[in-house]
Amino acid sequence: MKGIILAGGRGTRLYPTTISVSKQLLPIYDKPMIYYPISILLLAQIKDILIISSPEDIEMYKKLLKDGADLGIHFTYKVQDKPNGLAEAFILGEEFIGQDDVCLILGDNVFYGQGLTDIFKRIKHHQGGATIFGYQVNNPEDFGVVEFDENYNVLSLEEKPKIPKSKYAVPGLYFYDNKVIEFAKKIKPSSRGELEITAINNEYLKRGELKVEVLGRGFAWLDTGSPSNMLKAGMFVETIQSRQGLYIACIEEIAWRQGYITSEELRKTGEKLKHTEYGRYILDLLKDGDSK
Ligand code: G1P
Repeated sequence: MKGIILAGGRGTRLYPTTISVSKQLLPIYDKPMIYYPISILLLAQIKDILIISSPEDIEMYKKLLKDGADLGIHFTYKVQDKPNGLAEAFILGEEFIGQDDVCLILGDNVFYGQGLTDIFKRIKHHQGGATIFGYQVNNPEDFGVVEFDENYNVLSLEEKPKIPKSKYAVPGLYFYDNKVIEFAKKIKPSSRGELEITAINNEYLKRGELKVEVLGRGFAWLDTGSPSNMLKAGMFVETIQSRQGLYIACIEEIAWRQGYITSEELRKTGEKLKHTEYGRYILDLLKDGDSK
């Protein structure tokens, strides 16, 4: 399975901060926002990742993440000329995806919770169709919204409805079979001029090939769309990390635990960053062995 991280968009809700800096490079507490979706793909054991961003920003991502060798994985990069919508990722990524299944994650989505790895294993075993998620929020009108019957069968999917049919938003993490490329080419732009991911999901729903996994109250799906929500997300990460001494989205740690890099390779990154708490955390992992 291939992975795509979409780190495009103009980030207008964070202006003036994002006039000259790509939103997904801004920090959530102690690391760039894009580390969080990378950590999710690593936990899903996806090692071949395409990063899509704007012509102005793509070089910054290359500078930060390089070819992925430091993590024992592989990053490829592709420019999205204009923010034409999430579904364009599959058209831009057609060659990269090849004949594989694909997981799309948005560069500004932060997930945290025990059991994600098991959910991913289950999804990867299930062949064909699409799997998306549902998560209860207070402001469903700001997202894609999924409506269920009492057995959690999907009744409808709508993009930012004025009157939402449920409180379940669809987070920016989607698993598709290879048909997604064909569907992305077929859908028409919405009234906001974008190729909507919700149109793709509706295509799978129509064919009876859409699964929705509900992420319950034990999970955190954090909003990074406004200054106040970014601050809250940062405080959440700081709270967990300082309480437990376990980091959220330390991508080098995950790569090491998955066996993608050796302890020596991990040490190199730790040494480079040893003037920061992040670097010292990495070096401490090696002292503690695999006890965490
Ligand atoms: C996009 C999707 C929406 C989804 C959201 C998750 O919204 O269109 O369906 O719920 O991401 O972050 P956008 O970021 O384009 O407002």
